[in-house]
Amino acid sequence: MDSSQPPIVMSRNHPPMVSHVFDQEYRLAQDRVLSEMPPSAIIGAHRWTGTERDRIGGARFTARRLGYTPEPGRVVVTNGTQSGLLMLFAGLVGRGGVLVTENLTYPPLHTFARHFGFRILGAPIDQFGLVPDGLREIAKTEKPNALYSVATFQNPTTAIMPVDRRREIAEIAREYNFSIIEDDIYSLLLPDAPPPLSALAPEISWYVLGTAKSIAAGMKVAYVVAPSGDAAERRFWPGVRGTHWMSAPISAAVMTALIENGGDARIISAVAEEVRERQNLAQELFSGIDFTTKPEALHVWFELPDGMARDDLAARARQKGLLIGTSDEFATEGKPVPEAVRMGIGNPKNREELTDALDRFMASYEEARP
Ligand SMILES: Cc1ncc(COP(=O)(O)O)c(C=O)c1O
Repeated sequence: MDSSQPPIVMSRNHPPMVSHVFDQEYRLAQDRVLSEMPPSAIIGAHRWTGTERDRIGGARFTARRLGYTPEPGRVVVTNGTQSGLLMLFAGLVGRGGVLVTENLTYPPLHTFARHFGFRILGAPIDQFGLVPDGLREIAKTEKPNALYSVATFQNPTTAIMPVDRRREIAEIAREYNFSIIEDDIYSLLLPDAPPPLSALAPEISWYVLGTAKSIAAGMKVAYVVAPSGDAAERRFWPGVRGTHWMSAPISAAVMTALIENGGDARIISAVAEEVRERQNLAQELFSGIDFTTKPEALHVWFELPDGMARDDLAARARQKGLLIGTSDEFATEGKPVPEAVRMGIGNPKNREELTDALDRFMASYEEARP
């Protein structure tokens, strides 16, 4: 590899940038925002939980997944999913509390747990995501405050939970009286995705639908749908726990304009289309090796054959100028760490770079074979 070149980063899970659609849609939406109001009126004040118009937009955006349009008072506009989650973990779990997650989960959760002083308990998963019996066992003995789940395109396994299992999980949460914090960030790329857990138990669910994986990683807007308008106000009232969840006004306003003119759907379908193309390209190359993914998933999960070590594979890839993630980042405490790696396919800037990256991965894989 040419060591003067920066590595290709496939340890991250960004959506592909579909500039041929995104640039035009973003400009159109931004022009509309700036033509309706002078910049000083937009930027001159905080937007708190979003303006009424932003919340109506958020209700429309989340309706496509929830299957109904939530009352806008239940919707909070946040500065991306992580910001919304921070407020929810602080308010619903808190110091000394217990959060259950899939036993391989979104890595920043470990940082949040240290920060807020709560425990994370990993529940068993299979190819369909969280296993209800395992969750029930934990619920009986540990009295969790909340469940955090990514039920569609689970990170890192790409599992999609079938609807019957979603119903069962919603029932367990009701029976054992804990909140559901659902991160549905990948779901918009999947046409006809099963309904969110939150649609099956709205009275105990906090539904989070971010734009970072379906529109653009730097959009910095995610919508939280609370169980009720009162609950939304209590958790996100500006005086509650600092004010870090708030979206930058221009991003919130542009996102609202995109929702109002249908630009959001046009960008999402272009991203999904590009992901499908990239998946086709990748899967052709992966013949003969074990991997798990889905046509619209942003990443691929590789459980390695006996004798192949994840660290060795990642190190060999790094030597060839390619960064991939290992299972250690996703593992929850006390649970076995599978011999596996994750590779995001959205980050390379075009298909040529993707092909180059995939070739480097395959060469590293062949070298790492026992
Ligand atoms: C499950 C999950 N949630 C949230 C995020 C990040 O969302 P945001 O950038 O909106 O904070 C990621 C990014 O990798 C993710 O995998």
